[in-house]
Amino acid sequence: MCGIVGFTGTRSAAPLLLEGLKRLEYRGYDSAGIAVMGNEGIRVEKVSGKVQKLCEKTGDGAAVPGSTGIGHTRWATHGAPTDTNAHPHLSNDGRYAVVHNGIIENYAALREELTAKGYTFLSETDTEVIVHLLEMYDSGDLKSTVLRAVARLEGSYALGVLCADQPDTLIAVREASPLILGVGVGENYFASDVTALVSYTKNAIYLDDGEFAVLTPAGITVYDCTGRQIEKPVTRVTWDVEAAEKGGYAHFMLKEIMEQPAAVRAAIAPRLRDGEVVLDEFDLDAETLRQFNKIVITACGSAYYAGCAAKYALEALTRIPVEPVLASELRYSDPLIDAHTLLIVISQSGETADTIAAMRECRARGAKALAIVNVVGSTIAKSADWTLYTWAGPEIAVATTKGYTTQLAVLFLLAMSVGRKLGRLDDALYPALLYDILRLPKLIQNAIDLNHGLGALAKKYHRASSLFFIGRNTDWASALEGALKMKEISYIHAESYAAGELKHGTIALIEEGTPVIAVCCNAALEDKTISNIVEVKARGARVLAVAFRGDRKIVAQANDCVFIPPIHTLFTPILAVIPMQLLAYYVAKENGCDIDKPKNLAKSVTVE
Ligand code: G6P
Repeated sequence: MCGIVGFTGTRSAAPLLLEGLKRLEYRGYDSAGIAVMGNEGIRVEKVSGKVQKLCEKTGDGAAVPGSTGIGHTRWATHGAPTDTNAHPHLSNDGRYAVVHNGIIENYAALREELTAKGYTFLSETDTEVIVHLLEMYDSGDLKSTVLRAVARLEGSYALGVLCADQPDTLIAVREASPLILGVGVGENYFASDVTALVSYTKNAIYLDDGEFAVLTPAGITVYDCTGRQIEKPVTRVTWDVEAAEKGGYAHFMLKEIMEQPAAVRAAIAPRLRDGEVVLDEFDLDAETLRQFNKIVITACGSAYYAGCAAKYALEALTRIPVEPVLASELRYSDPLIDAHTLLIVISQSGETADTIAAMRECRARGAKALAIVNVVGSTIAKSADWTLYTWAGPEIAVATTKGYTTQLAVLFLLAMSVGRKLGRLDDALYPALLYDILRLPKLIQNAIDLNHGLGALAKKYHRASSLFFIGRNTDWASALEGALKMKEISYIHAESYAAGELKHGTIALIEEGTPVIAVCCNAALEDKTISNIVEVKARGARVLAVAFRGDRKIVAQANDCVFIPPIHTLFTPILAVIPMQLLAYYVAKENGCDIDKPKNLAKSVTVE
């Protein structure tokens, strides 16, 4: 979704802004623009399409001189992705420029009011009301002008403001949309995402909702919503710029698939001590845990599927009923949730609008929220009662891979920890589970190594118009994520079905050559799934099975097999997904798709 950058210093701003925007490209966008304070006032350059087009238009920024500026990548919501609708927007008098992430919910009323007062709107965006409000409330003091304008806004916004009257000053405002300040030496920055900052500084200030900051080359001052100055801690960003670069891989997605052993190690290693799972951030005693009579998991996309997959381990090990609910459904469902509900909120970005809203709704009903989040300092991480970080490092490809597997790793640890504390985790089972958890990074590496031939196999499947992913129990959960990966990046229709449900409809769609991906990693149900394989094959399907290495039964039944190393059934989703990630990757590659930035999708969905 939209990305924001801002720079003030003594260096040329435009090239730095363009570089920052390139680093935000992964979030998904359809137009881009910059505004730089020059000798003759604010100059705006914007284009529909890629940042590269903006680089070409501006000679990589050389044509836009000045050392203070703001930039934006826009993911269209209000108005088509045109040059005019792209940000930054300029006030009628040309003195204010604004970039905005989020949605101004009362923009229609404001637009009417401002139009009646004689302000001319050039774009169809909700954002444009902000620049006209700034002009209308201009008091000669930038800080109080911004405060008055912002007081009129309803909705979510991260704003970057540039004013010609204070040529080396930027204002950054945050309300329900992420904004991070970068602290430099003789220069300062802001961005919607730390990825845009790390090549310039590792010192970050995370703004909270309702706060705003004034940035000059000499320093940063942060204020609360009343204009009172406040002290904010400077946080050291722990990863460097290489972590957000491709490092020799053709795509971020492939790099992130390959990073999974290390990412999962980072998620589990600090939480295993002397043979025990220790969750310092969620260290509740048995009595407190016993008060929870159900667990509701809420999330969107792959994070939701991680919840579906972990439900089995959570229920088996804690004996607490677990209900995964899509955040976009939960928020409007008048949920039966109270103080005895433990809400688990899963989000890679920590900024997904529906997930935030679902969490707020449930907390308002008394539920306690445990967040499982990757991005440090994100909204969900900060507003939950407890947060377990997944420590996956930056994930750039829109389609999540290491984000998903690290979520699973943390959820498995959680299931073990809670089960153990409640005395419901069998003493005989615990060491076996612990053994598998300790080996996870190696097992994931092994699953990757076993599937280096998937590039060749993808050639058999890439022309399909439709693929079906089937499985039972934990395998069904894996199939859900497998199908989503395929859809997201290859644009091939893919559907996941509980294998036992095939007969109730989907089997009607199976015809000669239809590919069916059958996940068969649940030993207790393997024969059942094999019977489904036989049924679809009898109707002409070409079956690719995902199974444990050495599973002869499957080799005899499926047309093709991909393997993972054996692991406890409850943990299979973390391995079964690996060949399906690779299959989706190679199918998409074969079809020439834009793998890291699939059309219409965004990494961080910050609007409903
Ligand atoms: C988008 C992304 C998905 C992600 C989902 C939830 O749809 O493209 O990869 O699973 O949002 O995102 P979150 O950041 O909350 O995990």
